[in-house]
Amino acid sequence: MNRKQQVNAAFSAASRFYEEAARAQAISAGFLADLVAELPRSACPQVLEFGCGTGLLTRKLHPRLGGDWLVTDLSPAMLETAESALPGPRYQVLDAEDPHVDQRFDLIVSNLAAQWFADLPAAAAKLAGLLTPSGHLVFSTLGEDSFREWRQAHDACGVACGVPRFPSAATLASGLPHARVVEQTFRLDYADGRAFAAELKRIGAGTPAPGHRPLGVASMRRVFQALGSPCAMTYHVAHVIISRE
Ligand SMILES: C[S@@+](CC[C@H](N)C(=O)[O-])C[C@H]1O[C@@H](n2cnc3c(N)ncnc32)[C@H](O)[C@@H]1O
Repeated sequence: MNRKQQVNAAFSAASRFYEEAARAQAISAGFLADLVAELPRSACPQVLEFGCGTGLLTRKLHPRLGGDWLVTDLSPAMLETAESALPGPRYQVLDAEDPHVDQRFDLIVSNLAAQWFADLPAAAAKLAGLLTPSGHLVFSTLGEDSFREWRQAHDACGVACGVPRFPSAATLASGLPHARVVEQTFRLDYADGRAFAAELKRIGAGTPAPGHRPLGVASMRRVFQALGSPCAMTYHVAHVIISRE
């Protein structure tokens, strides 16, 4: 399996219970929905959502904006769950890094899917190419400070951390032409490091950074000890707004 197939399989396996554990995604989706609602828009916008998952953002934004929606994800199982929660929009499997869609959109939105892209600037350029002349591409992705405590615990134990490196807001802004980046930072509480790792796995986000070799039981135990219990974890979300005009 290549990495994209691994990501797809992990999210597909998580689709049924995703929302019971997706606390951070729900917080980020609410923030993103408010940002999108402030943008100028037409009365009946053509909207593309990518990486919809079970539809957390879809259900927050679709009733606020109306319009004609094409809701997409890499994972067919995620799409099925999303469609059963909100019938009405069109649902379609789509790899947003290779978005072959024969349509133009006034708005393209996504919550916390883009951190899974192999090449974010290339994907953003392709997606922006699907916008109408006054359209907006708005998506959130994880920023560099995410999981700071988890990385620090690994550093303290001298072992490699499996969580991928995420870009700073400045790197995102310089790598994505015409992008405005709005940062959101919050912390979630966990009983211990084991509970944090279990939550990532439960939402399907356990696929490690490319090339990472899983730690042994003893090393993992040292990391959990270094983290302490209870513990808190930082989520740093970068909300990116790219407007064609
Ligand atoms: C963390 S979930 C976020 C789901 C949803 N947007 C939310 O806010 O709950 C990430 C989603 O991105 C999807 N995804 C990952 N890579 C993708 C890609 N290249 N194209 C489309 N979707 C992708 C996954 O299948 C998964 O459903």
